[in-house]
Amino acid sequence: MVAATAKLQEQFDAGLTTRPDFTIDQPRERYGAADHAVWDQLYRRQRALLEGRACDAFMEGALRIGLNVAHVPSFAQVSERLMAATGWRIVAVPGLVPERIFFEHLANRRFPVTWWMRSPDQLDYLEEPDCFHDLFGHVPLLTDPTFADAIHAYGRAALGVEERALPLLARLYWYTVEFGLMRDPSAPYGVKIYGAGIVSSKGETLYSVESAAPNRLAFDLDRVLRTRYRIDTFQKTYFVIDSFAQLFDALGAGIASRLADPAALIAVQPHAAGDVLQSDTIITRGTREGWLDDGDV
Ligand SMILES: [Fe+2]
Repeated sequence: MVAATAKLQEQFDAGLTTRPDFTIDQPRERYGAADHAVWDQLYRRQRALLEGRACDAFMEGALRIGLNVAHVPSFAQVSERLMAATGWRIVAVPGLVPERIFFEHLANRRFPVTWWMRSPDQLDYLEEPDCFHDLFGHVPLLTDPTFADAIHAYGRAALGVEERALPLLARLYWYTVEFGLMRDPSAPYGVKIYGAGIVSSKGETLYSVESAAPNRLAFDLDRVLRTRYRIDTFQKTYFVIDSFAQLFDALGAGIASRLADPAALIAVQPHAAGDVLQSDTIITRGTREGWLDDGDV
């Protein structure tokens, strides 16, 4: 968080005009050859790695919005294609934006995308979201009508949630939008990836669907709202949805009903990231290999 704050300050200091809603015009003239090369390299690497591992809607969506280019894409061009598909557009931002501003954007079908690219020595790990994570990771699925409506519903529901319930919202977003898996009987491992934090990471792409270490449990909204997560290691547990329709129900009406009066949920002790409960529907029970004992958020 300290690093993210420093980075945000650096962006402000760069003299980019930032509007009250934290958006800027994508400063395309500021991308250098190294930025374009990093996009090209990451795009081609992840595209190849995700074949057969990421859900079809993601793979098709990336092409549909024109991410298959050898340079950092133009946000205006991506927006034009996305708008035609589902009425969403993307807006450039300097980095992480405050939660309420973020929800406001989602509730208006605008997805904030960090404009700057990671450096060539950060291909495999980055503490904060950059353009590759935000654009390649999050935006392709916004071409899917049901997924697009689910994120819109989340933004609308989140706007009405009181401050003390924000950590619950963060768990849900983390275990779905960032690190979600979906059932797919035709896939070699029975699941495919849709979460942005996975598709934008080489290591977690392989780990999430192929490793024996993590738990893969059927998604359950109340369970997820009560489960801590990892920000410094791969996930100990992945929650697996059946369909984007299920996600739409959870991210919209589901949280609106649960968080209208969040006192009971806030009062209960959350489960550890690696816990498996008797009530869980287990798809694969993890071997726990390589897990650190502490550090759940
Ligand atoms: Fe993200």
